[in-house]
Amino acid sequence: MKTIGVIGAGQMGSGIAQVSAQAGYHVLLSDVDVDRANKGKAGVEKALNRLVDKEKIDATARDAALGRIETVAGSGSFAEADLIVEAATEKEAIKRAIFAEVGKVLRDDAILASNTSSIPITRMAQASPDPERFIGIHFFNPVPVMGLIEVIPGLATSKATVATVSEFVATLKKEIVYAEDEPGFVVNRILLPMINEAVFVLGQGTANIADIDKGCRIGLNHPMGPLELADFVGLDTCLDIVMVLYNTTGDSKYRPAPLLVKYVEAGWLGRKTGRGFYDYSSAVPVPTR
Ligand code: CAA
Repeated sequence: MKTIGVIGAGQMGSGIAQVSAQAGYHVLLSDVDVDRANKGKAGVEKALNRLVDKEKIDATARDAALGRIETVAGSGSFAEADLIVEAATEKEAIKRAIFAEVGKVLRDDAILASNTSSIPITRMAQASPDPERFIGIHFFNPVPVMGLIEVIPGLATSKATVATVSEFVATLKKEIVYAEDEPGFVVNRILLPMINEAVFVLGQGTANIADIDKGCRIGLNHPMGPLELADFVGLDTCLDIVMVLYNTTGDSKYRPAPLLVKYVEAGWLGRKTGRGFYDYSSAVPVPTR
């Protein structure tokens, strides 16, 4: 495997591009237009510069990794890619449209993967050119820091596809957890009900934001409290995942916390909009309740 195509140059896509380039792959990083793809690459440059400052890598390694990332618009250049990882918005219609587009250029021996956090792989495989060569590869945020990748074969995914993807993950020096194609896979199935419950706890006035997060940081030894983490992931993404759990299982235990819905409706989506459960307009985030 030589060339990795990454669709979506946001937080996840640029992280996937970074770790792939650092592992020696040629990366085609695409977004709806080349400006957005370039913005993603600029983020990778910043992250690599930080690693140079900390003396984790040298300038030569940084330049080599950056030189391996080529930014492109759309998916026209993906005929070259051995593996394409879709990391676009967590909306099924958008992903399906991308798979149809990529299907026009995907080689007969190439694999198409989705970084979806929760949408069923077997269902999305139906919009891909070959369900045997379609698979879920779920990275965690921030991709360069988090050591885990979930690999999710769909019902029709071939053993050869699972084996090739597992080899790829091993070259990124990350651990694999294999999950069945069930809603939320393993980690989000556990994480999102916790975040959702934290928003219920807040909405019911049991404790304020700072104490809910402090409780989990110190009482559970988590690096971030659930509300800080929700802001980090993005409240819209959290709600999307909760809704997938709720709609696909029909189980009322996954019903979204009303306050989470309200925050998303207000456009308070967390760090990316400057406000979520915390206000990020000053150097130290300030809890909003
Ligand atoms: N990109 C690259 N590196 C980053 C980074 C980023 N965005 N953010 C932090 N880092 C690095 C720092 O450079 C630092 O590296 P060194 O130790 O080598 O110096 C290290 O991570 C620790 O960072 P900080 O000291 O700045 O801050 P911290 O100790 O508070 O750690 C954190 C930050 C790593 C994000 C930590 O708080 C953490 O692990 N939080 C939980 C993250 C988490 O749970 N992620 C999963 C989210 S769920 C998901 O992704 C799945 C989904 O589908 C929704």
